[in-house]
Amino acid sequence: MQIAVIGAGHIGGTIGQKWAAAGHEVVYGVRDPKSPKLESLAISPSYTVRAASPAEAISEGEVILLAVPGSAVSQVISDYGKAIDGKIIIDATNRVGQPVMNAMGLLAEHTPSAAVYRAFSHLGWENFQNPLLAGSQIDLFYCGTPGASQAVVDGLIAEVGLRPVYCGGPELAESIDHLTRLWFALVRDQGYSRRTAFKLIHEGAGT
Ligand SMILES: NC(=O)c1ccc[n+]([C@@H]2O[C@H](COP(=O)([O-])OP(=O)(O)OC[C@H]3O[C@@H](n4cnc5c(N)ncnc54)[C@H](OP(=O)(O)O)[C@@H]3O)[C@@H](O)[C@H]2O)c1
Repeated sequence: MQIAVIGAGHIGGTIGQKWAAAGHEVVYGVRDPKSPKLESLAISPSYTVRAASPAEAISEGEVILLAVPGSAVSQVISDYGKAIDGKIIIDATNRVGQPVMNAMGLLAEHTPSAAVYRAFSHLGWENFQNPLLAGSQIDLFYCGTPGASQAVVDGLIAEVGLRPVYCGGPELAESIDHLTRLWFALVRDQGYSRRTAFKLIHEGAGT
């Protein structure tokens, strides 16, 4: 699958490398494709990974991961909304300190035909780099458009090494963001390390 990762920092870089290792074609959409900062990424002949402008990356991607700072996401969506509409979009961005942390409302407005997901947003990136914690596979709670593309996102989460836990449609984004707030409270205020995650424990199968 061709995946455009917009933003190649902690989140984009970590997840993009995992997807490349799983065999996907990853194109990082970045402001400066020649930046030395990108050298640490697996932009090597062994993986199908490269860097391009956001517009070029988006034009090639079937799936778009938004991994830019919260302060930039609204501009990115308004600049590239038309280009990303109709694709599978994963919003990992957090507008920390804003009343709404996710960009799902902006995506609904600018990309009405896209399948939109809120994922990779409520845990620190270290947990995506190493998805095993205390002997358990880390759960990734996520939500978004129900239907066929949900299986694609499930697969992409699993390829990072996490256990996907689908929580419901896009309207569940705020519930996912409460997990982010809880994670911040534990890690920033209560002294838990960034290697902290949440586990769903249940009897019987989910739906
Ligand atoms: N860090 C975490 O543990 C974590 C966990 C979950 C969610 N998140 C969220 O994920 C997002 C990314 O976080 P991060 O930690 O990966 O940030 P980061 O390390 O600072 O990386 C941000 C990336 O976005 C690029 N960027 C900045 N402005 C851009 C723009 N206008 N257009 C295109 N690219 C732009 C930066 O490129 P330049 O080099 O050009 O500046 C950089 O590659 C944030 O919204 C954050 O809240 C972070």
